[in-house]
Amino acid sequence: MTEGPSTATADRGAPGAPPPPWAGGGAPLLGHAWNLVRDPLGFLAGLRGSGELVRIRLGPRAAYAVCDPALVATLLKSPDFVVGGPLWDTMELLIGKGVATSNGQVHRRQRRMIQPAFRADRIAEHAAVMEQEARAMAGRWRPGAAVDLGDEVFRTAVRIVARSLLHVESIDERAERLSSSLHTVFGGLYRRMVLSAGPFYKLPLPAHRRFEDALADLHCLVDEIVAERRNSATDREDLLSALLAAKDENGEALGEQEVHDQTVSLLVAGAENVASTLTWTFQLLAEHPAEENRLRAEVRNVTGGRQVVFGDLPRLTHTRNVITEAMRVRPAVWILTRRAVADSVLGGYRIPAGADIVYSPYAMQRDPRAFVRHLEFDPDRWLPERVADAGRQAMMPFGTGNRKCPGDHFSMAEMAIILATVAPRWSFAPLPETDTAPRIGITLQPRRLRLRAVALRDV
Ligand code: HEM
Repeated sequence: MTEGPSTATADRGAPGAPPPPWAGGGAPLLGHAWNLVRDPLGFLAGLRGSGELVRIRLGPRAAYAVCDPALVATLLKSPDFVVGGPLWDTMELLIGKGVATSNGQVHRRQRRMIQPAFRADRIAEHAAVMEQEARAMAGRWRPGAAVDLGDEVFRTAVRIVARSLLHVESIDERAERLSSSLHTVFGGLYRRMVLSAGPFYKLPLPAHRRFEDALADLHCLVDEIVAERRNSATDREDLLSALLAAKDENGEALGEQEVHDQTVSLLVAGAENVASTLTWTFQLLAEHPAEENRLRAEVRNVTGGRQVVFGDLPRLTHTRNVITEAMRVRPAVWILTRRAVADSVLGGYRIPAGADIVYSPYAMQRDPRAFVRHLEFDPDRWLPERVADAGRQAMMPFGTGNRKCPGDHFSMAEMAIILATVAPRWSFAPLPETDTAPRIGITLQPRRLRLRAVALRDV
């Protein structure tokens, strides 16, 4: 799949290396920023036709777009490129300097701190909360009622991460506040990423005020949660207790701000991606009733009609393939950025220090060179006998390298438990107000997913 002067390599220096070619198109002055605003998905997917690594113009600046999966893996594993660039600069507005935005020694320390919470034995413990929350969500719906699945799974994902990793008290009231503030903040972040016109956002417009209020409420809520635990002086053996007990490089307890930023990072990362992925999965199943029936049949076969539990997951292989395929064809994470820390060479091309680099899991995972019938929802493409090397390489929903998502197994368990809890009880029929065009934000989601819940005894 690679084309250009060399295969997937990153080297420091190499002064003779040429710069990558420019991508075609772009508007006067704005350059490709215009394409990124108007049709970001189409633009990023179209770049693969220009080469494995191309330059794009964002106003007066050049940025670099990596289009080849092997080169993306090299980028993500190379110490020359760190978390930074437009996505992460914007995310800092929300999560400060937590594990997802820090770099170097601080990142390594923060990552070490959270990693134990995602060990296999801990996920088995967290699963009890996943099972309860999945059951509660499926039990709330009424036959024939309209369900906004985007809202439902977002709230459930917030509750799961808040209860399992942080043991948040007074969860009912707080989960509502967390969901509502996160929802508003996420809505405003993408605009701030693409149009980073700082003073504009200071104008007292209602949308700006809503964003600021939601951000303030989110931070206030997290302060409350942290203070409550600190004052209780109890060790709940969870991530929050681990953060409060942790020491930095100098052997000092973490500062208030770092505990705060880490907590926000986990809430944000734990809720948004899971909710977006599940929303797409439900939408795809509603569009493909035969697939919905197969999933249901597998669950019934494995559980014999009882509630699904964590121990069932190894046998729910088709359920897992449904989730993987939903993540491929409708990924939540569609754009990621990095920044070059040194003059370096990637794939034989020169990248200057300070350059912003972008890649799109959306474009890679829907590349016809990696997947036959690439736009089709086909969970069986992940059967061991069918999966091809090119497909495996292009499929990186959780990233790779030292920033690989620590929540990968946690979220696969969570999503499988939720799907397998809902599938035997409910089927969904799209309502006319449903709009499945992707809403472009920090993550991708259907614009509106309103479905009629059909209790299965009525089917
Ligand atoms: C479907 C669900 C999820 C998807 C698709 C997803 C995807 C990703 C991706 C692609 C990255 C790497 C970003 C990069 O390389 O720049 C990442 C990082 C991260 N994710 Fe996830 N994630 C999911 C769920 C979760 C959950 C449930 C948690 C925690 C409860 C979580 C916590 C994190 C954290 C803390 C990072 C930053 C890691 C670091 O920089 O060292 N994620 N995620």
